[in-house]
Amino acid sequence: MALVTATAALGTDEDLQPLLDALDHHGITASAPCWDDGDVAWDAFDLAVLRSTWDYVPRYEEFLRWLDATEERVRVLNPATVVRWSTDKRYLTDLAARGVPVVPTEFFEPGGPPPQLSGDAGELVVKPVISAGSKDTARYSDARAAEQHVITLLAKGRAVMVQPYMGGIDTHGETGLVFFDGDLSHAFRKAPILALDAPPTAEFFAPEEITAREPTADERKVGDATIAACEPGLLYGRVDLVPGPDGLPLVLEVELAEPSFFLAYAPGSADRFAVAVGARLGR
Ligand SMILES: Nc1ncnc2c1ncn2[C@@H]1O[C@H](COP(=O)(O)OP(=O)(O)O)[C@@H](O)[C@H]1O
Ligand SMILES: [Mg+2]
Repeated sequence: MALVTATAALGTDEDLQPLLDALDHHGITASAPCWDDGDVAWDAFDLAVLRSTWDYVPRYEEFLRWLDATEERVRVLNPATVVRWSTDKRYLTDLAARGVPVVPTEFFEPGGPPPQLSGDAGELVVKPVISAGSKDTARYSDARAAEQHVITLLAKGRAVMVQPYMGGIDTHGETGLVFFDGDLSHAFRKAPILALDAPPTAEFFAPEEITAREPTADERKVGDATIAACEPGLLYGRVDLVPGPDGLPLVLEVELAEPSFFLAYAPGSADRFAVAVGARLGR
């Protein structure tokens, strides 16, 4: 089987070696080809699991074309329909409609009416709907400056979303819940990333500070409800939560395409993933 990465991500996926080791331990032969390596014989694999195809944002159309073509040749997990849905944060609207508590979000489309943001609600976060690694994402004290960022992204043809800054993240952090085959494997805490009125990261990814986390009962509940609201049968999924104004968890993001699992913070988690993969291979 293949754990699919990207040329641009080589050497940066800290989960990859632990996953390869765990799969090997479970008698599953795995390698880590790059999605953008044109020489890979995808039909030679019995399964291709997307893991660190992290340059998909600037190469979105090219990536989706590769994904569709590859799905013709090998079973891909999570499947292309799920990847399409979960790489465009407009899915928050779907989740909200299914009763999942999500961070309140306003969306703006290129060619649509110009943004008129109110500063009354406090600080604002602006990000493209298709984004990863906090790229092009920034936090503003001033609604006019936030509007300017929206306008700049729209002019580049990118749909944009605006959220109130969830201040609870400053103390509690963000909680990531990692699910394998629908079951919670482990959780982690990610420290807040966005400095007020600072420009978006110039790196491939903003640096992240991760620690192990025991999720609260409310976080588990919202995590389970979120996975239940997504397509059934996911090999893996990650639900990222932040405290809302009343302290209760809200979904910031659902990662079903290429989430970091942060396995190093959760003993046994790589084995749980290998078991989930083994089940897909009929082991
Ligand atoms: N509404 C928000 N309130 C507080 N922090 C936010 C908000 N939106 C994003 N962030 C911060 O920005 C980071 C990146 O945003 P996120 O929505 O996770 O997109 P991605 O990880 O796909 O770039 C988060 O990890 C969090 O630290
Ligand atoms: Mg995120």
